[in-house]
Amino acid sequence: MRTYQVAVIPGDGVGNEVSSEAVKILRAVAEKYGFEAETSQFEWGCDYYLKYGRMMPEDILDILKEFDSIFLGSVGDASKVPDHISLQLLLKIRKGFEQYVNLRPIKLYPGVESPVKSATPETVDMLVIRENTEGEYSSVGGIFKDQTPDAVALQTAVFTQKGCERVMRYAFELARVRKKLGDQGYVGMVTNCTKSNALTYSMVFWDSVYKKVAKGYPDIKTDSAMVDALSMWFVKNPGYFDVIVASNLFGDIITDLGAMIQGGMGLAAGGNINPDKTFPSMFEPIHGSAPKYTGKGIVNPIASIEAVRMMLEHLGEEEAALGIQKAVIKVLEVKEVRTRDLGGNNTTKEVGDEVRRVLLST
Ligand code: IPM
Ligand code: MG
Repeated sequence: MRTYQVAVIPGDGVGNEVSSEAVKILRAVAEKYGFEAETSQFEWGCDYYLKYGRMMPEDILDILKEFDSIFLGSVGDASKVPDHISLQLLLKIRKGFEQYVNLRPIKLYPGVESPVKSATPETVDMLVIRENTEGEYSSVGGIFKDQTPDAVALQTAVFTQKGCERVMRYAFELARVRKKLGDQGYVGMVTNCTKSNALTYSMVFWDSVYKKVAKGYPDIKTDSAMVDALSMWFVKNPGYFDVIVASNLFGDIITDLGAMIQGGMGLAAGGNINPDKTFPSMFEPIHGSAPKYTGKGIVNPIASIEAVRMMLEHLGEEEAALGIQKAVIKVLEVKEVRTRDLGGNNTTKEVGDEVRRVLLST
């Protein structure tokens, strides 16, 4: 039997509650589709920091590299550890495992209401490919004359030829597989999210790599938009988009906007992908740890369940992934069991149980 070793890092805050539901669905889907999923849980996060003075063991990458995949709940609790320190847990794994693609689907499921009027399940179906290892989040810089009236902070964005090229190629390849445009002369479209009118080095360079990569994909329509205008179009006409490729910072921002278009943070999942499969990839809900909701059992587990779906897709368990998607859609469509964010009053666990029940009964 195919066996997958999955590392589970619940992290902080609501990460624990949503991870339990994710693991529940992983077990159910394994049972139904005939594979084995063994999970090992790691209690790294802010409480670990308070005990040991660091967020995770020093050899974290050595530990995790033995796994087929990683599930991450959420990290951060500013009442215990400053965010810029706690989030190193996440960023270390993304960078250390060359998870250079942050894949964030934005799809409005039937039965979910979007605050954006023009968004319908027929039109909203796009994918943001966010560069995930460099760019504005490279952590290169310093503070000169810190704590003095002359203090100067410098933070340098790092854009490499290799880094830009590989993430853009991934976006074009994906547009080719998705075929969203079908027979309109092109099979798909990749929108380049840029800001080269003001970022005259990094984004001009980014654009030039985009143009070069696009040449290799004559069947894919090219398209560019400044990140500010793109944000406006996301709201005005989300159905326009197919695949969007963005830098680390821009991708971070537009995917929170995208999460709203698809009905809220409770539904949005993401994959930190190492396309070369030299290291495990990591899947997570894109919402944060929401410390104020911790332990209340009210947050929506669907984002985490969707993260499991993406994990299975990446592992090649297509049928199982589809099974999860169908169950999620059914539960959302029926509107009987839902958490507060979707206007219901069910608990995190009840929604997880319902997805499991539907999954196993169809
Ligand atoms: C995300 C988060 C993280 C990011 C933070 C918590 C570092 O916002 O995954 O989108 O910016 O990558
Ligand atoms: Mg974010």
